[in-house]
Amino acid sequence: MDLHYTRTAKFLHWLIALLLISQFAFGYWLDEIPRGTPDRGFFINLHKSTGIVIGLLIILRIVWRLLHTPPALPSSTPRWQQRAAAASHFVLYACMLLMPLSGYLASNFSKHGVKLFNAVRLAPWGSDDKLLYTIFNQTHQVTAVLLAAFVGLHILAVLKHQLIDRDHLLSRMLPRSSR
Ligand code: HEM
Ligand code: HEM
Repeated sequence: MDLHYTRTAKFLHWLIALLLISQFAFGYWLDEIPRGTPDRGFFINLHKSTGIVIGLLIILRIVWRLLHTPPALPSSTPRWQQRAAAASHFVLYACMLLMPLSGYLASNFSKHGVKLFNAVRLAPWGSDDKLLYTIFNQTHQVTAVLLAAFVGLHILAVLKHQLIDRDHLLSRMLPRSSR
């Protein structure tokens, strides 16, 4: 039985991990730009645009994942660890989806909408509703913290497998030549 993830799963995992970490830094960096300046509008729209592209990739990854079963963990893995891995992967997918979705929804309940790559204006399809904007914007901020916490946990789990259990779990997600 092949215990490796497929090439598509690996490609999507590493591409999205890289993009998400950059988008994260971008999001927090936005706080540095003074409100009401032209720079802020420009960079917020850039963040929204890259976020939408990443969101579409995440949807593609989730659809692909629903159609493909991942490789089973080695049978020696304790049951609680198999359950913990499945649960934490579920939370990671949920946060990955909620991040761009909450940002997109917030933008559509504000008069600003989205100016795609500062070139194409997508008029908001919702009303300019302060309450809904705040709810989705807060969801965006809280999910960011939750996602960061679970990514941290995810990396700690991989390190534990690599350095303590020495079962080479990481190689399941690496190109075959680097095994
Ligand atoms: C792909 C995933 C995305 C990630 C990882 C992400 C991450 C972040 C982070 C970390 C922040 C800073 C939060 C804070 O200051 O507490 C932020 C702010 C923001 N994001 Fe995103 N974002 C994503 C997608 C989007 C999308 C698709 C939109 C809109 C279409 C969007 C709109 C915004 C806006 C408007 C802010 C500024 C909020 C404010 O300062 O009040 N984001 N984002
Ligand atoms: C934004 C960052 C990341 C996110 C959102 C993320 C998300 C995920 C998800 C959802 C899975 C489960 C795949 C599935 O079975 O459907 C997974 C698997 C995996 N990830 Fe990540 N990941 C991130 C970063 C990393 C990093 C930095 C490492 C390396 C230290 C890593 C190593 C792995 C490994 C080895 C697996 C396979 C686990 C197994 O064999 O069961 N990930 N990742």
